[in-house]
Amino acid sequence: MTSALPHASETISDRRYLIPFRSQLLPQIFTDVLVIGSGVAGLRAAMEASTRGEVIVLAKGALDRSNTALAQGGIAAVLAADDTREGHIDDTLVAGAGLCERATVETLVDEGARAIDFLLAQGMRFDREADGALSLTREGGHHRRRIVHSDGDATGTELARTLLAAAAALPAIRMFEQCFALDLLTAGQGDGGDERVLGAITHHPKYGLQIIWARAVVLATGGVGQLWRESTNSRIATGDGVAMAWRAGAKIVDMEFAQFHPTALYIAGAPRSLISEAVRGEGAKLVDRSGRRFMESLHPLGELAPRDIVSRGIIDHLARVQDSCVFLDAKQMGSTGFRARFPGLAQMLAGYDIDPGKDLIPVTPAAHYTIGGVATDLDGRTSIAGLFAAGEVAWNGLHGANRLASNSLLEGLVFGRRAGAAAASEPTARSPARLVSDIRPSLRAELDLADSRSSLTSAMWRNVGIVRSGAGLEGALDMIEFWSRYSLDKIFDDLHGWELQNLLVAGSLVARAAAWREESRGTHTRTDFPTSSDRFLAHSVWSRHQAEPAVVALGEVGVLA
Ligand code: FAD
Ligand code: SIN
Repeated sequence: MTSALPHASETISDRRYLIPFRSQLLPQIFTDVLVIGSGVAGLRAAMEASTRGEVIVLAKGALDRSNTALAQGGIAAVLAADDTREGHIDDTLVAGAGLCERATVETLVDEGARAIDFLLAQGMRFDREADGALSLTREGGHHRRRIVHSDGDATGTELARTLLAAAAALPAIRMFEQCFALDLLTAGQGDGGDERVLGAITHHPKYGLQIIWARAVVLATGGVGQLWRESTNSRIATGDGVAMAWRAGAKIVDMEFAQFHPTALYIAGAPRSLISEAVRGEGAKLVDRSGRRFMESLHPLGELAPRDIVSRGIIDHLARVQDSCVFLDAKQMGSTGFRARFPGLAQMLAGYDIDPGKDLIPVTPAAHYTIGGVATDLDGRTSIAGLFAAGEVAWNGLHGANRLASNSLLEGLVFGRRAGAAAASEPTARSPARLVSDIRPSLRAELDLADSRSSLTSAMWRNVGIVRSGAGLEGALDMIEFWSRYSLDKIFDDLHGWELQNLLVAGSLVARAAAWREESRGTHTRTDFPTSSDRFLAHSVWSRHQAEPAVVALGEVGVLA
């Protein structure tokens, strides 16, 4: 089935594509809904949209390479007899430090149990108690056990397996892997007024550049976690979706809020693999090299305080004791107990000769989750007609200034479904489009891509990390501006260049928003503004059409989209 979609023709869109192209010369593919991303949000959106039309799903690497597949702890939902809707809502709002949109939180919680039922119906295997009931764990910020999980610490693997198998079984869905979306195709005057998204330009190593025309596009590209040197994220998390949406003129919200997970493995030369918060949920304690606990005095929930508090607690303690890592003490579980509850972690740690039943696990905070993103309403609609977003790339006010653990897989399920339904209902676009790049290569020298990228991630870690200051942020912005001058004026022909360009756009958005927010709140800590201020009890909304952010009060989420 193909839709009556526009072809390249008359109107010049005043915006910048990463590559110059004339659409007439490229192979063209047509679909009803194009979903960019094969994680939880993209697959859930695709499954919903496929009930009303044809869907194409893109992944820039293998289909199961995503943050979704890495998830450990599980999926939060109100399932236990002693749990309540209000309990989950309150825990989410408290973690969000005043910036959550209540209507979004209520929608998530109200649709949570239904999302788990959907997964059970698709055949997802969850861990169970001896009596057959779903096994529930606890993580930071939760006052109840309300997190379902699979194979101990491999919830993401099982979730990705389930959704990929379910999507593959639907004839209306086609999935293209190794297919990199470079840019969204837009028609309109380019001033943000009547812009409409019509599809995307993609690159596949075998088929080259292609155009995929669609009635609606759902961005589900995940977050920007690869912006920081220390990161738990998959390599795919390079902010492509935020950068594409920015170039297309969409509104971007609250990018200063990036969550740092307190416990990533700290071994020189090893990846910063996540050590799930569920390990602390099962009783492990944070200690320093001398075996001393330090979280008890900082928060009533101790090691299970919200993540921003634990991450800052670790950083402060390390500065006090002049060390480079703290330790998780999970010895109370014993070697067998740990292996039974966290088989994947036990196996990974054994690779470094660590037996958690006997040894301390060295840990440090690392970038983990992107809270800000492309502004959407409750149905994933962005500020540009025809463009929807869901999952970690999107902002809908759910997480406020700090995400509650294990709320994001649920977010992908609940808001992915809603975005898929809304996208499939989008009318056929009639806007004509003539699509030419206005990129003007300069004579400036080309910087080494790998070196620029590693300098960028180091600068983000140093100056735009867990603890920030006005001077540090200005320094980071100067560096990003410098690298941008030498990198955004180039036409690259592979993913390394395109990813660097996207990281620079995303890094600039994070640093600018962090410099603007002159207060400390949730995951955003400023040494020069150490307290929260009511003046900043609002969202910052950024668009490439305006030099300054719009400041939008809570509850006015509808006007963003
Ligand atoms: P992702 O799952 O990251 O998928 C992004 C998709 O977009 C990929 O398919 C990728 O190929 C594609 N893509 C990106 N750019 C392009 C492009 N340019 N062109 C084409 N395709 C593109 N959350 C929880 O709720 N519970 C947990 O237990 C949990 N554990 C976590 C553990 C780790 C180690 C990490 C990193 C995160 C964890 N999270 C957890 C967070 C959660 O996993 C993510 O927020 C969530 O999976 C994001 O889903 P998504 O669909 O938005 O994006
Ligand atoms: C974890 O298992 O600690 C990660 C959970 C999450 O990020 O929500």
